[in-house]
Amino acid sequence: MPKLTLKHPTNKTNIDFSIYRKQQLGDGVYSTVYKGRNLQTKETVAIKCMDLAKLDSCNSYTCVKEFRIMTKLSGGDNLTQIQAKLNTGKFAYIAMTYAENGNLHEWLVDGKCSSLEMGMKLSIMHGIANGLAYMHDRNILHCDIKPANIVFDGMLNPLICDFGFSKDMAIDNLWDLRGTFYYKAPEHLWGLIDAKHPDRKAYAKPSDVYSYVLVMWDILTGNYCPYTWMTKHEVAVWVCEQGKREYIPIDTDQDLADLITQGWSHDPASRQTMGDILGALDSMPMHAVTAAALSKTTTTTTSISQSKQTFFHNLAHAETTVRGQFIAARRPAGP
Ligand SMILES: Nc1ncnc2c1ncn2[C@@H]1O[C@H](COP(=O)(O)OP(=O)(O)OP(=O)(O)O)[C@@H](O)[C@H]1O
Ligand SMILES: [Mg+2]
Repeated sequence: MPKLTLKHPTNKTNIDFSIYRKQQLGDGVYSTVYKGRNLQTKETVAIKCMDLAKLDSCNSYTCVKEFRIMTKLSGGDNLTQIQAKLNTGKFAYIAMTYAENGNLHEWLVDGKCSSLEMGMKLSIMHGIANGLAYMHDRNILHCDIKPANIVFDGMLNPLICDFGFSKDMAIDNLWDLRGTFYYKAPEHLWGLIDAKHPDRKAYAKPSDVYSYVLVMWDILTGNYCPYTWMTKHEVAVWVCEQGKREYIPIDTDQDLADLITQGWSHDPASRQTMGDILGALDSMPMHAVTAAALSKTTTTTTSISQSKQTFFHNLAHAETTVRGQFIAARRPAGP
């Protein structure tokens, strides 16, 4: 078993890891993520490996930035936590907390998300909002919020991962527009198609808010990606020029529908902050459900945390039927 010695992100002490090259957790455009083991603590970890020879100088910089940003986000809930890192000049490695229950894209593709009760859906939305609000409070933008970048830990808490495109607003170039087209805010769509487009705008907090509410919409409806039926050019015309958006199911609770509708406003200044969204979800009782889901719930006044408790209670009693579904075969990462 190959041993890998990485450095603690702040005190720079050596930490030894095993890396299980045959147990791949994800294979992104820029990296491969493997299962591994912290040989000091015996904990299972995820190790992201980047072959720097395959990256241009701009992308090599992103991995240095990813170290820096993950270190700055240490201690934040609902964010994958860095344990150690190394840049050998040829390869870069990040060892982080292992999220054992796959990613949200897999849950959406496999239909697991559609079968969740509304309280659990709200709880997932709330967890992601909590992680993103923590980032925004520290003036860090994620810039690639999408289901494949949300992983689930052993307690089914959603954790935001993949800080490769993230930006520290005080340091990084906010005009470096990259990431996943279908989740981008209207102010970036033309810029991603044409780098010289006059409507091109720099990244800002409302860009992440827009991507976040599209993920909310995915969770609400069970769709694995918005606008999949259109080409990029058609999406840009539809979203930017015609001001159209995806369809919110008619029986969605009005508060939840309003939250999504405001979050995907054309004007970035009209979108709520992540703090506003978190506050709204915090106070959202379980009546925020679709009519269909409501008929399956036992109470209409349960809070998100109560609903989560109920979920875990049910989980304990239906370990094989419920939890077994979540740990289903992995699918390729999302768009
Ligand atoms: N801490 C983790 N625990 C478990 N799985 C993880 C973890 N981090 C990442 N993964 C898995 O690996 C996949 C790829 O990771 P990540 O998104 O960080 O890489 P990437 O190369 O930047 O991906 P992409 O280019 O597709 O955005 C994720 O979608 C997720 O399924
Ligand atoms: Mg990713």
